[in-house]
Amino acid sequence: MAAVDKPRTIDYKGTADLVTDTDKKCELAIVEAVRKLFPTHLILGEEGGLSGDPTSEYLWCIDPLDGTTNFAHSYPSFAVSVGVLFKGRPIAAAVVEFTGGPFCWATRTFTAEAGKGSFCEGKQIHVSSNDRVERSLLVTGFGYKHDEPWATNMEFFKHFTDVTRGVRRLGAASVDMCHVALGIVDAYWEYFLKPWDMAAGVLIVEEAGGRVSRMDGDDCSVFDRSVLVSNGVLHDKLLETIAPPSKKLVEKGFNFSQWFKPSNYTSDIYIGCSRPFDI
Ligand code: IPD
Ligand code: CA
Ligand code: CA
Repeated sequence: MAAVDKPRTIDYKGTADLVTDTDKKCELAIVEAVRKLFPTHLILGEEGGLSGDPTSEYLWCIDPLDGTTNFAHSYPSFAVSVGVLFKGRPIAAAVVEFTGGPFCWATRTFTAEAGKGSFCEGKQIHVSSNDRVERSLLVTGFGYKHDEPWATNMEFFKHFTDVTRGVRRLGAASVDMCHVALGIVDAYWEYFLKPWDMAAGVLIVEEAGGRVSRMDGDDCSVFDRSVLVSNGVLHDKLLETIAPPSKKLVEKGFNFSQWFKPSNYTSDIYIGCSRPFDI
């Protein structure tokens, strides 16, 4: 919050993939706090990578600033996102969304705990109940690489813009998922997300009564690289459009599955209300 109305110091990880001083400072602050409270846990931060005990059953997935491009432009819709996995499954989540804009920034905090519901500013939240595609409002995201999955997603964007009330592209995956949980949009999907983009958001959606899968319709883990989250009732209808081209991309050799998974994370890692999980 101290940084939002100050000039940005921007660095480049790629041509479009930015990183600011604030990303780095936020991650250091979060990692320091986690280390102090949970010295035996494993930590995965977008900027700092993996640190801590590699045999720990707990993994903290930290996106110190999700939506860095928005932050760099002072465009609302960015967040700090922290999700905790136990044996690979999300059990606790917090996303602090920055709303408003220059000179009137505010935040709202989303939280969830496995089996205990999702909350926004302490009030319990639920996904929407809309079951009609033509009455839905959707949101999606596009990764930095302009490859074939990116082009496929453009086709989805075009199609769903045609057959729904609209498709938004805000630019922060964790915020998009929180908006599904809040019931202000009905579904969100994206190719090539990372564990730190997804870990908090998927739990917040599930605990708000929503459904999470991969874009090809299979069960999803935070180590997978595609995700469709929805209010549940629209899920199968959206998969009818999204799954076949996604399966085709897999057949062509695009790897949407587990790109990053600590070697000790071998147990039941799938997200899914249908799979009860004992903590
Ligand atoms: C990005 C945002 C964006 C999504 C990208 C992510 P970053 O995260 O979540 O909405 O489309 O795929 O990489 O780089 O701003 O932390
Ligand atoms: Ca991110
Ligand atoms: Ca980030």
